[in-house]
Amino acid sequence: MELPVNTKGVFRLGILISGSGSNLQSIIDKLHRGPSGIEVALVISDDPEAYGLRRARRDDIPTAVFPLGDYPDREEHDIAMADELEKHGVDLVVLAGYMLIVTPALLDRFPYRVINLHPSLLPAFPGASGIEDAFVYGTGVTGVTVHFVDEGCDTGPIILQEVVEIQYNDTVDSLRERIHAVEHRLLPRAIELISTGKISFDEKNPRRVIIRD
Ligand code: GAR
Repeated sequence: MELPVNTKGVFRLGILISGSGSNLQSIIDKLHRGPSGIEVALVISDDPEAYGLRRARRDDIPTAVFPLGDYPDREEHDIAMADELEKHGVDLVVLAGYMLIVTPALLDRFPYRVINLHPSLLPAFPGASGIEDAFVYGTGVTGVTVHFVDEGCDTGPIILQEVVEIQYNDTVDSLRERIHAVEHRLLPRAIELISTGKISFDEKNPRRVIIRD
């Protein structure tokens, strides 16, 4: 498979969000229109009220809203989003707090070009409440994962992971704060690694991502 790499001097991101967009903000602050040629070309949300849309508009980044209820099914929804992403010449699609499952209708149009941020050490605690699930389970550590998206729920090949300890005095909110701080570093890092061609797959085991840094 061919991974997206910045060969044209510009590397265009399509970012999908559902809520606050603090991770979108970290990408804007660390990468957008910087020396690496990375540009946030489009921000898409399924929720018209998502605060992240305001963050994008503040920086004159084009936005689009695709509420699931406006489409007969998920496939039609994802075809419309893929059309919009293609229209904006997106090289890499980044799910940064996007809370819907992405179907093959979109994934097949962007093979190995969709990555996701997840707030746990996958394969532990996949799904929509990774932070709460680890906290309630009582694990001593949890963390952050950035991975390529496949057809499963949080099952694609892992690019980066970082451990976050769960401390005795933690609440879900204090843990969430430390996880977010790690996310804000890890996701921009993964995007840079991909755009600079430092990522490949182990030939014997294509689930293993190799990083040359
Ligand atoms: C992040 O913690 C991200 O890992 C999580 O949503 C949050 C979005 O925060 N994503 C998932 O749980 C996906 N399953 P943000 O809107 O402030 O960037």
